[in-house]
Amino acid sequence: MESPFKPHVLQGKVALLTGGGSGIGFEISTQFGKHGVSIAIMGRRKPVLDAAVSALMSLGIPAVGFEGDVRKGEDARRVVEATVKHFGKLDILVNAAAGNFLVAAEDLSPNGFKTVMDIDSVGTFTMCREALQYLKKGGPGRSLSSGGFILNISATLHYTASWYQIHVSAAKAAVDALTRNLALEWGTDYDIRVNGIAPGPIGDTAGLSKLLPKEINNKTSDYLPLYKVGEKWDIAMAAVYLASDAGKYINGTTLIVDGGLWLSSPRI
Ligand code: HXC
Repeated sequence: MESPFKPHVLQGKVALLTGGGSGIGFEISTQFGKHGVSIAIMGRRKPVLDAAVSALMSLGIPAVGFEGDVRKGEDARRVVEATVKHFGKLDILVNAAAGNFLVAAEDLSPNGFKTVMDIDSVGTFTMCREALQYLKKGGPGRSLSSGGFILNISATLHYTASWYQIHVSAAKAAVDALTRNLALEWGTDYDIRVNGIAPGPIGDTAGLSKLLPKEINNKTSDYLPLYKVGEKWDIAMAAVYLASDAGKYINGTTLIVDGGLWLSSPRI
């Protein structure tokens, strides 16, 4: 689907996306690139990174991939530094790396819980912290009056309660808290905006195939307010909007992009 935004709305910006080589992260990489952004992708799987970078470059988008795991502080630092070395600055950090699986709370080991917290919550904090010196106003390649932008990919699971996802619900609740607290501290001190997007069920993603198996998916669609799952494009358009000047007064918000699903219930 064609973007409703002008192709230059993000012209000249540099973004680093964790988990930017697949799923929702890759669609954000692509749409950012189509709107003028140079793209650095961080991920654990080299073949996925290589394929993503080739696909972006074939669209004429400047792109580079760096192997790394957001759970490792040294990887986070190395990749942020390598991005700035490669493109000269950093304007946007997108935290899209996530881990997930369905498991009943009584069957989940503490290490399983911790693994998802480490990827989603601690990983997001680590990346933000490493990126701070480059995103703050007056940082390398920035003016003294303008800071960068952080986007955290969240979920809606923790607004209520979700079967078999206690680990992700806790992790995404923490991500939302990071979004609000960093928006307050770093917005005030450094002119950095920090926002989130909470996607609903999005077609053709690991999240949907892992977490909403087909038989459940069919039932869910009976009470989706818009009667359809979303597209990765829907999330990427929200990301372009938030990252652009159109979103310049939006800070500390997690935008729900789920067609209204989280607040719905079956019609009586
Ligand atoms: C129970 C499990 C499990 C499962 C792993 N564990 N899978 N427990 N059921 N299906 C436990 C292990 O037993 C272990 O604990 C601990 O978790 C760590 O497992 P590892 O396999 O060593 O971890 P690792 O190789 O680092 O893999 C991380 C992962 C994996 C999260 C488990 O699934 C992953 O890397 N996923 C990344 C891709 C992904 O899932 N993307 C989907 C994102 S969708 P013990 O105690 O045995 O040592 C998404 C949507 C969110 O985020 C919201 C949607 C609505």
